[in-house]
Amino acid sequence: MQDVTDLPFMRVAAHYGAPDYFFTEFFRVHSQSRPEKHILRSITENKTGRPVFAQLIGEHIPDMIRTVKELLNYPIAGIDLNMGCPAPKIYKKNVGGGLLRDPAKVDELIGAMRDATPGLFTVKMRIGFETTKNYDPILALIDKHSVDLLSVHGRTVKEGYRSEVHYDFIGHAARAVRCPVLGNGNISSADKAAAVVAETGAAGVMIGRHAIRNPWIFRQIREKFSGQAVTPITFSEVREYIERLYRETQQPGVPEAAHVAKMKKYLNFVGQSVDPDSAFLHDMRRAMTEAELFAVCDRHLLTEPAQHFSTEPYAGVIARPNCETPLRGCSLDTITAC
Ligand SMILES: Cc1cc2nc3c(=O)[nH]c(=O)nc-3n(C[C@H](O)[C@H](O)[C@H](O)COP(=O)(O)O)c2cc1C
Repeated sequence: MQDVTDLPFMRVAAHYGAPDYFFTEFFRVHSQSRPEKHILRSITENKTGRPVFAQLIGEHIPDMIRTVKELLNYPIAGIDLNMGCPAPKIYKKNVGGGLLRDPAKVDELIGAMRDATPGLFTVKMRIGFETTKNYDPILALIDKHSVDLLSVHGRTVKEGYRSEVHYDFIGHAARAVRCPVLGNGNISSADKAAAVVAETGAAGVMIGRHAIRNPWIFRQIREKFSGQAVTPITFSEVREYIERLYRETQQPGVPEAAHVAKMKKYLNFVGQSVDPDSAFLHDMRRAMTEAELFAVCDRHLLTEPAQHFSTEPYAGVIARPNCETPLRGCSLDTITAC
């Protein structure tokens, strides 16, 4: 996820039980583009032990192929095409989710990327742009071009991030295409992952925001799928996670206030499982220094008696309304990233 699941976050996620595969933030492809160095680091310095797919967003075929060829020189699991990003500034350029309006273009682009990728070539898509009228034609193209894995976020582009997720459409894809399908959208817990896999027949799930809220989710899903009890997470473990995230994401030369601001973008998600009244979020958003931030964490998380972190986010606790330090692209209402 843009600006979030970078190399430091991958390290942290790996510490708590990594996913089977990572997907990079998207490499933006245009006539002047070169693969962004900070995203390349999540490939070249990936020591998580889990493979990483390089995700591209773009539409100009020669530039896309040039970038695919360049990325193939790096130790990637495969190439992934983004056909889901709903940010207007992205889809207006007919890239990301904008491609879903044009099956003929998708045919050309996927065909060319497939031909250029000797290894795994995967696609991430939504179920449509404004309607789902192009869903079946695009699923047919997934088969036509022998895509190796399809991740489906069960919303249209226009539905953004907060509507119901149409899991029935994910099930439809799982039945329609030959390759494995990953179900994506609000996979908030191990129980939800199991329910969605059972309902849709998907081969697995892709997790986005809930991995920030609860980086133990991958381990918990493995526990659930292997018939074990899901290990609950204590508040003191959450306190330790926040500390780890703080240290891993710290960069030399970045002022303390800026780093505290960056932490808030992660903590907006974590706070959804701390208390139903948003008291942690309220206090956290007012912290300006490291000491203030950790004092808030201590007050809310080092409680006696010890409490458990909620597996699911509390209803009505929204990730970041009124946050004074907005994460680019992370407002669930005014999302500008993918
Ligand atoms: C801040 C943010 C950045 C995102 N960046 C990407 C991205 O670079 N590539 C991508 O395929 N999806 C991206 N997504 C979408 C997620 O991968 C996922 O499809 C969506 O959030 C729904 O799943 P979730 O409920 O598990 O988060 C992003 C989402 C958010 C909130």
